[in-house]
Amino acid sequence: MVSQIRESADPATAPTDWAIAAQELRKSYRAGQREVEILHGVSLGVRAGELVAVMGPSGSGKSTLMYCLAGLEAPTSGRVLLAGQQLERLSRADLARMRRSQVGFVFQSYNLIPTLTAAENVALPHLLAGNRPPAELIAQTLETVGLADRADARPPSLSGGEQQRVALARVLAQQPAVLFADEPTGALDTRTGELVLAELARIAHSPGRCALVVTHDPKVAAACDRILFLRDGSLVQELRGASVEVVASTLAGLGAPREA
Ligand SMILES: Nc1ncnc2c1ncn2[C@@H]1O[C@H](COP(=O)(O)OP(=O)(O)OP(=O)(O)O)[C@@H](O)[C@H]1O
Ligand SMILES: [Mg+2]
Repeated sequence: MVSQIRESADPATAPTDWAIAAQELRKSYRAGQREVEILHGVSLGVRAGELVAVMGPSGSGKSTLMYCLAGLEAPTSGRVLLAGQQLERLSRADLARMRRSQVGFVFQSYNLIPTLTAAENVALPHLLAGNRPPAELIAQTLETVGLADRADARPPSLSGGEQQRVALARVLAQQPAVLFADEPTGALDTRTGELVLAELARIAHSPGRCALVVTHDPKVAAACDRILFLRDGSLVQELRGASVEVVASTLAGLGAPREA
């Protein structure tokens, strides 16, 4: 199954409706004198209209993979096709422009600007793209995530869950073609989590868009169209239409030592 993903994910031959295609992604970091490889040749494809989950144990490389796919980190080797562009061929300026106009990213650590209000943080992608922030959409998005009454609050005075909701409102108001969300519901209560997931699905399922969501929650993953499982920096399994129980047991199975 994984070899099928690998074969079809070659950016050079990927079907044109693929919003994300990665081939043989490797990523290493320097640790003192040593190079430590975190991603060991990951290949995958996400079609327009798809909501895809990425699961795996802590430290398996999920965030690193998202950064490489979103053009936030350069892979050590391998290729990424994102929204019709091969990232390694873009200049820094073109990459930055493409990210601003096409890509939304909800960081695991939220990445809010502490000196800006919630509403200003949500408006930021529009400002960075040189556009006038759509005030009504911003207010509406803050309402969707239950923060209408905290629009003027600054992140240091918000709870973890509230900060996470501002980060989500920011990407929902941006309505990017390709949306990455790294553990977007981790700090949310069940009801708010469901609401946020419904919003992510609404964006992912609209024409020409897609979303890739890292989650530890089997319920969130089971609600996605497809789930990719990472272990020790390699894609090891893919599920489609699986029940919450099957997702949970598959994830638990990944914690086991790799078979010889
Ligand atoms: N900039 C870096 N320099 C060195 N090592 C790094 C760097 N970023 C990540 N790593 C290492 O790469 C591995 C994978 O990290 P990553 O953040 O991708 O994991 P993850 O699957 O997202 O984990 P979690 O579920 O805890 O968020 C970890 O061992 C981490 O320590
Ligand atoms: Mg992570």
